[in-house]
Amino acid sequence: MSEPILVAQDLRKTYGDVQAVRGISLQVARGEVFGLLGPNGAGKTQTISMLTGIVQPTAGKIMVDGLDLETDANAVKAKLGLVPQELALYPTLSARSNLMFFGRIYGLHGKQLRNRVEAMLEVVRLTDRGDDAIDTYSGGMKRRVNIAAGLMHQPEILFLDEPTVGVDPQSRNAIFESVEALNREGTTVIYTTHYMEEAERLCHRIAIMDMGQVIALDTPTALIRSLGGGIIMVGLAAGESEVVMDKVAQLSAVKSATRSDGHLKVEAHRAHEALVGVLEVTNRLDVRITSLEILEPNLESVFLHLTGKKLRE
Ligand SMILES: Nc1ncnc2c1ncn2[C@@H]1O[C@H](COP(=O)(O)OP(=O)(O)O)[C@@H](O)[C@H]1O
Ligand SMILES: [Mg+2]
Repeated sequence: MSEPILVAQDLRKTYGDVQAVRGISLQVARGEVFGLLGPNGAGKTQTISMLTGIVQPTAGKIMVDGLDLETDANAVKAKLGLVPQELALYPTLSARSNLMFFGRIYGLHGKQLRNRVEAMLEVVRLTDRGDDAIDTYSGGMKRRVNIAAGLMHQPEILFLDEPTVGVDPQSRNAIFESVEALNREGTTVIYTTHYMEEAERLCHRIAIMDMGQVIALDTPTALIRSLGGGIIMVGLAAGESEVVMDKVAQLSAVKSATRSDGHLKVEAHRAHEALVGVLEVTNRLDVRITSLEILEPNLESVFLHLTGKKLRE
């Protein structure tokens, strides 16, 4: 990686007995769309709250563009834009007026301010509705105004915290397109989500998080490739898995056969051939199969493989 724009070293956050974040280290490249993917409670919001200086880390170090967040807080914060999940807009004012307000906070005025407001309305595809009161907007449109607000001061890094939760499909697409357009123009984006399809579509690299830790970090392709030839989960009638497991493990299309969460977990070199083999073995031994699941090669399966849990529960 060329000089990273953001470096986090061993970030931790504890609240009494709760370890919200347990030692996270990551580097984000300039111009990257970087994803934090994990289920509810994984520590995504706490992590980006620390990265943006909203929450004081219990331990760890954060560097942005070579500056230490702790000692150069103001200079660092000027480079960062955060779009939190909660909305902070004036409901009776129009989107334009709200954005004018945010722009003034950042010291913009006059023509420069008006131009910036128009440009940001364009980014979130709300130019036509810009004069309507926020009150009349859908949840997704409000979220898009929030994104525009977070962009008013031209941050180098934009943090988006689960921007599509509770959002209509049209706004969801507008948000995706905004992220892609911003990134094309050079903005680094850090994007949290528990939707693997979004992470896969938008992110150059993804840190998969669970229980306050990063459990895998790579490109979507490499994460999915880590599943190898595929994984088959086989439910077997009680007490009959031992002999099946031994026979399945010997199949040439099978890399390993282990027990996981009451199932026989088959890691395959070649999924279809392995499946045929599993069915042959169970037929021959006359063992009843109670369930059969072939994990698609996607991030959901990567998460299940790493944690034994589903991403969305
Ligand atoms: N202010 C707080 N006090 C105590 N625990 C907290 C606080 N904020 C978050 N947590 C806990 O930290 C963990 C991570 O939370 P969070 O970062 O919000 O997860 P995510 O955004 O991935 O859903 C959760 O177990 C949550 O309950
Ligand atoms: Mg969160």
